[in-house]
Amino acid sequence: MENNNYPLEIRDVEPEMAEILMKYFTGEHTGFVRVGPKGYFLPYMFKYEAFKIYTMEIRPTDVFVVSYPRSGTTWTQELVWMVANDTDYETANKMPQFKRYTFLELSMFSSVDNSLNPIKVEDIAKLPAPRFIKSHLPLSLLPPKLLDTTKVVYVARDPRDVVVSFFHHNKLMRFISEDAELKPYWNYFIKSEVLWTPYFSHVLEAWEKRSHPNMLFLFYEELSKDMPAAILRVAKFLGKEVTSEQVAKLNEHLDFKNFKKNKTVNLEEFQESGIFTKGPGFVRKGKVGGWRDDFDEEMTEQAEKWIAENLRGTDFRFPNF
Ligand code: A3P
Repeated sequence: MENNNYPLEIRDVEPEMAEILMKYFTGEHTGFVRVGPKGYFLPYMFKYEAFKIYTMEIRPTDVFVVSYPRSGTTWTQELVWMVANDTDYETANKMPQFKRYTFLELSMFSSVDNSLNPIKVEDIAKLPAPRFIKSHLPLSLLPPKLLDTTKVVYVARDPRDVVVSFFHHNKLMRFISEDAELKPYWNYFIKSEVLWTPYFSHVLEAWEKRSHPNMLFLFYEELSKDMPAAILRVAKFLGKEVTSEQVAKLNEHLDFKNFKKNKTVNLEEFQESGIFTKGPGFVRKGKVGGWRDDFDEEMTEQAEKWIAENLRGTDFRFPNF
């Protein structure tokens, strides 16, 4: 049920526009909404989850990993879970990561209802502590007391790598057709007509909170350049001691070549069962700057302009720029 006490405005995307978008995003059958002053673009079903998410009770023992999709969330989740659980390989190597973490807003995907069996938001309240929660929602759509109550790790990535990665991921999940092209996807992305956009509002909301003691702001590019340093930062943030042997072993565990073949994180079983397409897989290429292989000149110029416009007047910079 929609709730009238939800403080943010939820607007339906106009039927004509929704129809155009649903011709491209064939996996979405119910339409889209825009939420709040920034107009976050989400599936229509979000309106039934928005209030429940906004008012869910947060516990000091929760650990949140928040990101715009395809920013290295799974990688960060594994890093955070391992450090928080004293590098418990026994559990990590047998329990799929999606069972160690709850994907907060998964129930807004009516189209994946049956295949991914999403947990209801009200059932998340009943989970035992400590809860590890992943969300792609921006901070403004999460419970307002989140940061003052518990720890949040946010990870950001160059949006050009994000868009290429999300495009392939949307194919994998059958959200767009296998013959969909990147260029229209990119144009939807910069017009904030791809789920969870506007991208820069999402990242900047978290960036503004980066000095909050309960916020750790990471970049994919930093994890890629110096994972041992990132492990130490996460340990400090979570108040955990890690030995240099633990750091070295975890660095190996998180290394792309091992991660790609790690069945507890690569979602291979969804490909095997046919829920996902056969394509390049969930853990795909793992490169910084891989977008250069996929962007044409026009997209490259558009991106430069779009990034500059969005960063103007902010102190946000990507470490690889
Ligand atoms: P690519 O599609 O560019 O390869 P998320 O978990 O947020 O969906 O992010 C997925 C992206 O992170 C994918 O990017 C995936 O390959 C990359 N990734 C996952 N594990 C990684 C690792 N261990 N090292 C580097 N990149 C990784």
